[in-house]
Amino acid sequence: MKDPVRITITGAAGQISYSLAFRIASGDMLGKDQPVILQLLEIPPAMDALNGVVMELNDCAFPLVQDIVATDDANVAFKDSDYALLVGARPRGPGMERKDLLEANAAIFSVQGKALNDNASRNVKVLVVGNPANTNALIASCNAPELDQGQFTAMMRLDHNRSLTQLAQKVGKHVTDVESMIVWGNHSATQYPDLAHCKVGGKPALELIEREWYENDFIPTVQQRGAAIIKARGASSAASAASAAIDHMRDWALGSDGIVSMGIPSEGSYGIEPGIIYSYPVICKNGHYEIVQGLEVDDFSRGRMKATEDELREERAAVEHLLG
Ligand code: NAD
Ligand code: LMR
Repeated sequence: MKDPVRITITGAAGQISYSLAFRIASGDMLGKDQPVILQLLEIPPAMDALNGVVMELNDCAFPLVQDIVATDDANVAFKDSDYALLVGARPRGPGMERKDLLEANAAIFSVQGKALNDNASRNVKVLVVGNPANTNALIASCNAPELDQGQFTAMMRLDHNRSLTQLAQKVGKHVTDVESMIVWGNHSATQYPDLAHCKVGGKPALELIEREWYENDFIPTVQQRGAAIIKARGASSAASAASAAIDHMRDWALGSDGIVSMGIPSEGSYGIEPGIIYSYPVICKNGHYEIVQGLEVDDFSRGRMKATEDELREERAAVEHLLG
């Protein structure tokens, strides 16, 4: 049996975590041979609810769970953490954009960045889910100067997975027939789900669909999917967000099957401003991700990539005071 790894989940009594914690505990993220210690963080008013979640986790008698820590102290929750899933933050309601949460949520990520810096494993892999995820990840990374910025990532996998299904359903194929899907930029309404390099059953996706559908249906549907779910459910996506978080961490840790989209610190690839957390096409191998370089970018794509970059630069300017 492998040594256990420590997995921190923040916002552990919230709706995403109610799916996420149980799936991690059952081995969906790191495999059925990887024992885990769960370190669950909440704010004081939610500790009763968190204790209820812990009771349920215990009642599952998961073979892989070695210990569960429930705390409202970030220093305890991030102690020696190998994988940190930063979910705890306010979700948006109807009529709001995710960046409207910036003020409410930004402070959480500066505090948690510091706590990661002071307590986590030096190899910790951090995934920010709480919105606005890209800029929150930037805030956390800037507050953790002793960790590598590349250890901080933002979740774009839900957008990536949404894109796979929209396309597969349109062309009457299965999601597993789709390869080289890419979502660029921000987890927001400016994100750019790009089909220029995508193939379905080995054929270029753009030859299988009308350009009209791509520009006026596919792209806006993916961009607005979060809002559509809030409208339908009266609450933001939860089980699908948890599933995407599992996909993101599993691929980062164990390797991806081809290209996936991850929000990662930009270092200038594809002409994007360095110092923002931007979603790129990556391939994961041996616990690392690498940007897929050399893809051709036409004028349509360049315009879309720039629009979402501009939004991230604006978000960064709005939280400059929290960037350390
Ligand atoms: P929720 O309100 O059900 O749960 C959030 C939990 O976080 C609450 O229990 C709250 O007490 C806790 N919390 C608040 N501040 C905290 C702090 N400082 N430390 C620890 N815990 C704290 O919300 P949810 O539906 O689980 O969503 C959580 C976040 O994830 C929201 O910001 C939402 O917008 C975001 N989200 C992101 C994606 C994505 O694709 N990136 C997808 C879905 C949701
Ligand atoms: C989503 O994309 O479903 C989440 O980011 C929640 C939201 O606010 O849309």
